[in-house]
Amino acid sequence: MRRKRVATTYPITLIPGDGIGPEVIDATVQVLEATGLSFAWDRQEAGTEVFNRLGTALPDDVVTSVIKNHFALKGPITTPVGGGFTSPNVTLRKRLNLYANVRPARCLPGIKTPFPDVDVVVVRENSEDLYSGIEHVVVPGVVESLKIITEVACLRIARYAFEYAVKHGRKKITAVHKANIMKLSDGLFLECCKRISREFPDIEYEEMIVDNTCMQLVTRPQRFDVMVMENLYGDIISDLVSGLVGGLGVTGSVNIGADAAVYEAVHGSAPDIAGRGLANPTAVLMSGIMMLRHLGENEAAERVENALFQVFREQKQVTRDLGGTATTAEFVQAVIGAMA
Ligand code: NAI
Repeated sequence: MRRKRVATTYPITLIPGDGIGPEVIDATVQVLEATGLSFAWDRQEAGTEVFNRLGTALPDDVVTSVIKNHFALKGPITTPVGGGFTSPNVTLRKRLNLYANVRPARCLPGIKTPFPDVDVVVVRENSEDLYSGIEHVVVPGVVESLKIITEVACLRIARYAFEYAVKHGRKKITAVHKANIMKLSDGLFLECCKRISREFPDIEYEEMIVDNTCMQLVTRPQRFDVMVMENLYGDIISDLVSGLVGGLGVTGSVNIGADAAVYEAVHGSAPDIAGRGLANPTAVLMSGIMMLRHLGENEAAERVENALFQVFREQKQVTRDLGGTATTAEFVQAVIGAMA
């Protein structure tokens, strides 16, 4: 999805979510505005409070706003366990056909990690696989859950991964699979990746079985560059790579389709610390930096990223989850100060 450079004010849908969502979103908005760029934030509410008021956790207005603005910045939304409403996160992805989830994971200065120099990007197919949610009881005690894999979706995600690699100067794609066991479904996924790879001779292409991939990731993660995979493997491996670079609190992500991109944190609503000014806004801020780059605002993205890295390097104003004592507000002021 490309953004035409016509506006000097960027209209962006802002979905604060709940729990620590409003805190990390407000923090990110402060930093993005400190770049001097102009944004028209279209604030939209979703989640438990809206559900209690309107009977839906994701009002149509939210979806309409993202369709209109093409870009959204979103905080986490609490999903009730074992009842209540369907996850607004999943509904939003389905309604906007956000078929790719992209999660870059890179070592950040000042943050202790098990390995140095990790810099990988997980591209996860977001729309099918076992997540189609088609399950039924065959006979009592036997449940069938369908894994749906289509050529259309496989070709689309493979093409997205290769185009991403070209655009971001990446060198290699690893297609992750279990086609030795699921010969038809994962076989189709691999066949599609292979087909697309022939159009990109300058990008190295390899295939790796998912269990070996996990082992390699926790022994030699530097060998990976861009990785592409189906939904379930992507769900697990994208969290694994976040863990390699400091956890969910410091990794940004985007759910993207042909017409819309929703930039969001990968962590949840953290009800245990909500409203206490302790939340680390780095994950949403990293997503915001990705959004700036997508908007073509590379210089502003660099400024925010450099400031964030400086604060991490100094380690004086980092939040509690990273071993510091700073509040969300102190952290934000430190980042804005470092941008000056
Ligand atoms: P969580 O990510 O909210 O919290 C796990 C732990 O990490 C907690 O101790 C929390 O305090 C800490 N933490 C998370 N983000 C942090 C941050 N930015 N700064 C400092 N500490 C942070 O995971 P949990 O507890 O499993 O989920 C809570 C709720 O969030 C659930 O209802 C879940 O469904 C929802 N959720 C929503 C997501 C989304 O909207 N995309 C993604 C994941 C979970």
